[in-house]
This record gives sequence, C-alpha cells and structure tokens, in this order.
Amino acid sequence: MDYLLGANRLMHARKNGFFSNFSEKILVIGCPEPEVLSTLGFKDIVVCHPEKSVNKRAQEIKFQTLLDKDGIRKFNFAKSIETTFVWVTKSRRETMFNIALAFLATKKKGSIIVNGEKRDGVEYAIKELQKIVTPIAIMSKSHGKIGIFQRPLMLPRILHTWKVNGKSKKISPRYFSAAGVFSETTIDEGSRLLVEQFSGFLNGNVIDLGTGWGYLSAEAIRGNPKIDFITLIDSNLSALKSAKLNISSKKANFLWLDLQYEKLKLRNFDHVIMNAPFHVGREVNHNLWVTFLVTAKNALSKEGTLWMVFNRELPYKKHLPALFPTYEFLKQTKNYSVIRAKRTSFNQS
Ligand SMILES: C[S@@+](CC[C@H](N)C(=O)[O-])C[C@H]1O[C@@H](n2cnc3c(N)ncnc32)[C@H](O)[C@@H]1O
Repeated sequence: MDYLLGANRLMHARKNGFFSNFSEKILVIGCPEPEVLSTLGFKDIVVCHPEKSVNKRAQEIKFQTLLDKDGIRKFNFAKSIETTFVWVTKSRRETMFNIALAFLATKKKGSIIVNGEKRDGVEYAIKELQKIVTPIAIMSKSHGKIGIFQRPLMLPRILHTWKVNGKSKKISPRYFSAAGVFSETTIDEGSRLLVEQFSGFLNGNVIDLGTGWGYLSAEAIRGNPKIDFITLIDSNLSALKSAKLNISSKKANFLWLDLQYEKLKLRNFDHVIMNAPFHVGREVNHNLWVTFLVTAKNALSKEGTLWMVFNRELPYKKHLPALFPTYEFLKQTKNYSVIRAKRTSFNQS
C-alpha cells in the first residue's frame, strides 16, 4: 500500500539522522494515513486533510486536526511549527498548494519535508522546490522520494502562484472545481449522461450521494423546478466547498459525511442521484460502491427512485437486483450505463 511506502521512506530518513526531535510540533498536510505518523514516534502532530475519515482517525489517536486548509495562517500555533510534512497527492495543483501552505505555517529555519511516490509526481514537486531553496537532503526509496528543505527567512514569490492555482478554479462557464477532487479539470462524461436522463423528472426531496463539486445537484436544480430540497453529501471538504460556490440555491443543504464510516440518518427521499465512487486511492474498492447502493436504498422513500450512472467495468448487476427489484437501463455507452431503479416495481408506484 502506498502509505506504507511513504512510511518506509520516512523511516529511512530517520535512520539517516533526520527528525530526531520527537517533541517538536509537526504539521502534516495531505497524509491519508495519520496512524503512520505515530508509529514513527512523532507525538505533537497536527493533521490537515480534506477527507472526513482521515480527520476522524487522527482525532481518535489524539492528534489535532486542521479543518480548513485556507485558514492555516489564522492558527496561532502555526508560528510554533518546527517541521511540516507534505504528502504529494495525485493532483499537481493540490500538491503545490499544500507546499505553499507549508511555507506559511512553518517557523523560519524550520523544516519542510516533501514525501511521495514517483507516479504521483514527487520528482516534479521536489524539482520546483529546488528552484527556490537548496535542499538539505533528497533520498530515493520505495518507488518514491523524500526531499528535506529549510524554510528560508523570506517567503519566495512563487508561493503566491501556487496558492492561487490551488484554490477553486472555474472549469466551465458555470462551474468551479477544487484541486485534488474528482473531475478536477472537466465535467465527467458519465455525470453528463446522467443529467441528460434525469432532467425534467425530479421533484420533491432529492439527495446527491458523493456530490463532488456539485455538478449533478447544480444541474438538477436548473433542470427540475419541482425540486423542494436537495441534500449534497461528500466526504471531501474541498469538493463540498466548491459545491457551495457552484450552488447558491436556498434549497440546497451540504453535509460533510463519509458514507463508509458514518450512517446516513436521513430518510424518505423521493430521488437519489449519484455517480458512485469506486476507488480508494488508486485501488478499485467494491465495498465502496456497494455501500453507496445500500445507502441509496435506505435513503429512499418506498416509492422513491434511484438515478445512477456507473462504469460498465463494475459488476453492478450482481448487487443491483437484490437491493432494487426493478431497474432499467436508460442509456448505455461504451464506458457507462445510466440506470433508473426503484425499491418497488415501476407500475406499483
Ligand atoms: C465519482 S465522484 C462523483 C462526483 C460528482 N457527483 C460528479 O458526478 O461529478 C464520487 C464522489 O464521491 C465522494 N466519495 C468518495 N468516497 C466517499 C465516502 N466514503 N463518503 C462520501 N463521499 C465519498 C468523492 O469525494 C467524489 O466526490
């Protein structure tokens, strides 16, 4: 697993004499497995990550958490941070934004440590940093690299660009998306197909499971004036923040919730709309989309309807009939299927 490789690299750096002061305050940005940090012996840790489950797990092991990346400068403790670790993410924009935050949060002459996989672009991040700071050390290990830098006395100018690039960005005339979230640079093809199918058919109380930056909900509100309320759920706070930028309707309610770890208590929805996730990190995770299907079923009223798009490589047919006795394919393309499903049969409702 990727995070173990990351831990391996940190162990390697520690054996080489780095990070020997375990009592210092450490900020960790972008690490999806906070548990790794306690196994390395660090104690006074502040975790900054947009995923709800990462925040919960960090709190369970008594780490502090920073909920709002944009708010780092407002935190007083930022001035007391000796070392900041940045885990490289798949999104270059997000990684460089996180590195900019590391510079802002770390004490002058403190350490900034960039850790990540080659396939996620760690070499790019380290190269960009080398243009502005001379590294203390760069080590290669376990398909990745770790770069150790000293926070200079003056903040380099390029940080401003990295910060601005990492903020929510317009990706179409109507919509913003955030760095590091699903369909960061463009509207997803599957989601577009789903919108074509549900437009004009939604009403009442609607829920969008895994809303991302809110495309399905925004289009649902635009194309379905009979919607009374719409609830948008996502586990990623950066995505939800963009969704708030994209949707100003008073009908919308936003919830930061991880459906794998927290039960959705809301019930009796007339419609569920979703393009369910099926990856955790780089790995396909079948439990994840099955959890979304089960959540959709429980959220719907007896006569409610599920509108869903899924990737055709997934074995949806194996689970769908057991949960939804009636379903139909509204559209099939080479890569996607859009379905409409009911808990009860279509002609009973
Ligand atoms: C395939 S994307 C769809 C995004 C958006 N609905 C669209 O159509 O563009 C799935 C979304 O589910 C979210 N997600 C992944 N795991 C989740 C979980 N356990 N609980 C809630 N949301 C989750 C992801 O952050 C992502 O935004």
